[in-house]
Amino acid sequence: MTLILEGKTPSRIIRENIKREISEYTSQGFRRPGLAVVLVGDDPASQIYVKNKIKACREVGMDSFLLHLDKSITTEELLDTLADLNTREEVDGILVQLPLPQHIDQNEVIAFINPEKDVDGFHPRNMGKLVAKMEDGFIPCTPLGIDLLLRHYGIEVKGKDVVIVGAGFIVGRPLSLLMLWRDATVTICHVHTKDITKFTREADILVSATGVPHLIKADMVKEGAVVIDVGISKVGGRILGDVDFEAVKEKASAITPVPGGVGPMTVTSLLLNTLKSYRRRMRVHSTSTMKP
Ligand code: GUN
Repeated sequence: MTLILEGKTPSRIIRENIKREISEYTSQGFRRPGLAVVLVGDDPASQIYVKNKIKACREVGMDSFLLHLDKSITTEELLDTLADLNTREEVDGILVQLPLPQHIDQNEVIAFINPEKDVDGFHPRNMGKLVAKMEDGFIPCTPLGIDLLLRHYGIEVKGKDVVIVGAGFIVGRPLSLLMLWRDATVTICHVHTKDITKFTREADILVSATGVPHLIKADMVKEGAVVIDVGISKVGGRILGDVDFEAVKEKASAITPVPGGVGPMTVTSLLLNTLKSYRRRMRVHSTSTMKP
C-alpha cells in the first residue's frame, strides 16, 4: 500500500501546539505575535496564497497586517513601507509575497527586510545561515514544511539519495541545503540537466518543484521511492502537481497529494517561523517541547 503523505494532519497538530503556546503568552499579559504580509499588485494566485496565510494566522491567534500595494509602486516606495515594518514593535515577521512586478528590484527588496523578521528566510543573511548550518536563522517555509512532513511520517533522510528537480531559490536550492543538514546525498536537476530521468530513477526521495504539470511520469521513478510534489499548476480549471499522481502512486512507497500535501505544511512553517521570531523578540520561552 502506498502511503499518502497528506499535510493536513501534521499541520493541524503543529498549529494546535502553536495556538496553545500563544494563548499561554497572552494569558501572561504578552501581546500576540504579528505577521506583516506585503502584497504588490493583483496576481490571482498570490492573492489566494496571501488570504490563506492570513486565515492561518487568525486561526492560531496571531495578528496579521496586510499591506496591499498598487502594482505601479516604485522600488523606493516599497522600501519605505518595509523600513516602517522593519522597526515596528508589533511586527515579528515580514513576508513580501513573490513574484513582484517586473519593474521592482526583487533582490534589493529581499535584502532590505530586517533579517531578524525575515520569516520567509530569503534574506542573504538567512540563506547564508542555511549554508553554514547556523540554526538560529530562518529556514524558507516550503523546505521546512517538507522536512516536517517527512519527520511526521517517520521517513528517514540520513544516507538517502535525495533528488530535487528544480533549482529555484524558494524551494530547490534551500531544500538541497536542508537535506544536506539531514545527511542526505543530494542531487539537483534543472532546465539544463541533460537527462533528468537518469537521476530521478535513482532517487530514494524524489522532490519536484518546477511548476511543470505532470513532468514526473511513472517511468522516471524508482520502485518504492518517496515522492514529494511541490508543484501547483492550474490547467483547465484543475489543480495539477508536477507529478502524474495516479500513475506514480502505483510505484512509490509514499507520495504527497496536490493539493493537500506540501501546501498546508508551507503555511504551517510560516507560522512556526513567526513564532520563533516572536519568542526571540519578546524573550519568552516555549513551555512546550516544540522546536521549530
Ligand atoms: N511565492 C511562492 N512561494 C512563496 C513563498 O514561500 N514566500 C513568498 N514570499 N512568496 C512566495
